[in-house]
Amino acid sequence: MTIGAPIYDAINEYLAENNLRLHMPGHIGGRSMPSPFSEMASLDLTEVPGLDDFHAPDGAIARARELLAAAYGADESFFLVNGATSGIHALFLSLPEEAVVVVPRNAHRSFFGAMVLSGAHPVYLTVQVHPEIGTGLAVTTDEMARVLILQPRVDAVFVTSPSYYGTTCEITRLAELAHQQGAPLYVDEAHGGHFPFHPDYPGPAIQAGADAVVNGLHKTLPVLNQGACLHLGGGLPGEAAAQAISLITTTSPSYPILASIDLARQFMVVQGRGFLEKAAVLSQRYRNMINEINGLHCYTEEEMRFVPGVDRMDPLKLFISVRGLYIDGYGASRWLRQYYGVQLEAADATSILAMMSMLHQEAEWERFYRALVHLAKEFAGQPKYLDRGETPPAGRMVLTPRRAFYARKQRVPLSRVAGRIAGEMVAAYPPGIPCVFPGEIITEEIYEYLCYLKNSAVSIQGPSQPGLESLLVIDD
Ligand SMILES: Cc1ncc(COP(=O)(O)O)c(C=O)c1O
Repeated sequence: MTIGAPIYDAINEYLAENNLRLHMPGHIGGRSMPSPFSEMASLDLTEVPGLDDFHAPDGAIARARELLAAAYGADESFFLVNGATSGIHALFLSLPEEAVVVVPRNAHRSFFGAMVLSGAHPVYLTVQVHPEIGTGLAVTTDEMARVLILQPRVDAVFVTSPSYYGTTCEITRLAELAHQQGAPLYVDEAHGGHFPFHPDYPGPAIQAGADAVVNGLHKTLPVLNQGACLHLGGGLPGEAAAQAISLITTTSPSYPILASIDLARQFMVVQGRGFLEKAAVLSQRYRNMINEINGLHCYTEEEMRFVPGVDRMDPLKLFISVRGLYIDGYGASRWLRQYYGVQLEAADATSILAMMSMLHQEAEWERFYRALVHLAKEFAGQPKYLDRGETPPAGRMVLTPRRAFYARKQRVPLSRVAGRIAGEMVAAYPPGIPCVFPGEIITEEIYEYLCYLKNSAVSIQGPSQPGLESLLVIDD
């Protein structure tokens, strides 16, 4: 395999020609603009001859796609310039109209957008929650089998693996179950773009039997924001995927994003293993050291595998419980930023989540560790009571996401929502599992859960009034 970077090379060849640019973009390369615009615009070109056509590639982009597919072990791969979100949207739009899709209840919000766009009918999978951590981590094969057996027709099965916290599902077995039902398995592997490049990391879903996989490459690789890709593994015709991607993609794709994906793929093929090796060693060492700090606990792969359905864990996600300290996760996160200039990926009532990159140097792991040592000293003492968030009751769909999106809505006080159809989503973090989606009935049980949320300290996402004084419901 040639280890080139065809898109980046094509950009450089065009720049070297020093053409008079009588074409878009209007910044004409930024040369007449002051810094920093000139640097920002320097690689920002458009589809002129030599730079190929994103929507009908037969040059540099086509070649770069082949190299991407080879690097990931896919039959075919596509570049995406609007994040993993656009890959999820494209997968839904490649299905038949009004498709029946099996989806994890805690799927990323891009799934809801995809269902509004496509008109799909979701059937939700219950997600396994770690009893202590309280967050949704994986879908079990038992749950998959239970849901599939009840469905006379399924057009596609989706799972998210890894979770935001780095835990993966048993993809091979889930794929077998989906295939027995005649449905393809599509995986949102947004956080796993680095998996193929080191054998000790979780295995990539595309090599474990998934029919299509979306990687949010910008999340874990040296790729510009929005850079992502979609891989096909056999179950989805390339033409259907290409048509759906083309439908939702701009006619002015960003060459800096495309080139960054191309270069990152080249970098990973040549040097990824070494970088990931070093990062895994640092992860093991610092995870052990953090677990020596009184009051903190950094979850290990063995502990995560205790949760049914969890297969492996990404070593680069440090998920740390602060339960043993006199501070909650939100406070710890603020303190780390204020006193140590450390910005975390996420925090909730009981934990903080640090997303390490394979590019972090040992000194940076050490800086984070030192900050944690100080945090634990500063907040040693009687732990605060921490509400980890209850798991919500199951929902019942009355209108598809698309119908609910277009339905007329009204705002009513929380005390009057029982029996109505929700007009907006409500999810508490943790567990990050929505208790209602738009179009679902607000049963008595869900109403009680909403009242519990209103009076608890957990963070709520979705409703336009996060205090839950009132909620949008669908007009009768
Ligand atoms: C699991 C998962 N899927 C999809 C996405 C969407 O990714 P993007 O921001 O690249 O569109 C995210 C974003 O955080 C995510 O966490």
